[in-house]
Amino acid sequence: MQIDVFTLFPDAFTWFGNQRHVTNALAHGHEFGLVNYRDHTPLSAGQVDDTPFGGGAGMVLRIDAVEAALRARYGTDPAAPAPPRRVIALDPSGRLLDDPLVDELAGEPALTLLCGRYEGFDERILEHFTTDRVSIGRYVLAGGELAAMVVCDAVLRKLPGALGHEASAHEESFSAALEGGPEYPQYTRPAIHRGWPVPEVLLSGHHARISDWRLDQSRRRAAAPQPSRGDRGADDAARGPDGSLG
Ligand code: 6GU
Repeated sequence: MQIDVFTLFPDAFTWFGNQRHVTNALAHGHEFGLVNYRDHTPLSAGQVDDTPFGGGAGMVLRIDAVEAALRARYGTDPAAPAPPRRVIALDPSGRLLDDPLVDELAGEPALTLLCGRYEGFDERILEHFTTDRVSIGRYVLAGGELAAMVVCDAVLRKLPGALGHEASAHEESFSAALEGGPEYPQYTRPAIHRGWPVPEVLLSGHHARISDWRLDQSRRRAAAPQPSRGDRGADDAARGPDGSLG
């Protein structure tokens, strides 16, 4: 797979590019490119955004700056019919990213991710240059960079060779192997900590029983979301470390 991210902040991806599953994917021949809109803008002084027509706060990414960056990278008209790659705008109101969408994207030979900034994209960019709009949740981030990293992370770890252990991506939360349910609980050493034991079945070495237990746990979690420590009620939450309500 060949992934390109267009952004005003390529430096934001330095940490991401050094993640083990990303370097593994690159070692397997997948490619990850970064394009700075500012390097290709036809406007003076590196301008890439402008104030919104009709007034309002913030700045909008300009279509001429985005077109120039896409042409520089691909040498074709980004508005040409039947684009040879998915071109995805990171957009808070786009299609919500979930495991089926990640699988769909992981099956593509090439992806282009466009990050917006400030108040977002000139709408004509979305209309004429992109095939998809993707959101990572119903809240607004200051820019598309974190969302692009989320998409790349989720997609790259699905590619063969990205994870050390091939089974890890197969039997994980929301995968078909777990009927789309959440992952079963995991434990490691010590087998007992402060009197809190690991479920006995996991220490049994009985692989069929362990598989059955794990699928059962996943189904239970799907039926009833897990309580967390914060859900124990107001009294518990208000207790100090000594258990008193102070
Ligand atoms: Cl894709 N972009 C921004 N700016 N905010 C978001 C988002 C994307 N997804 C959720 N919030």
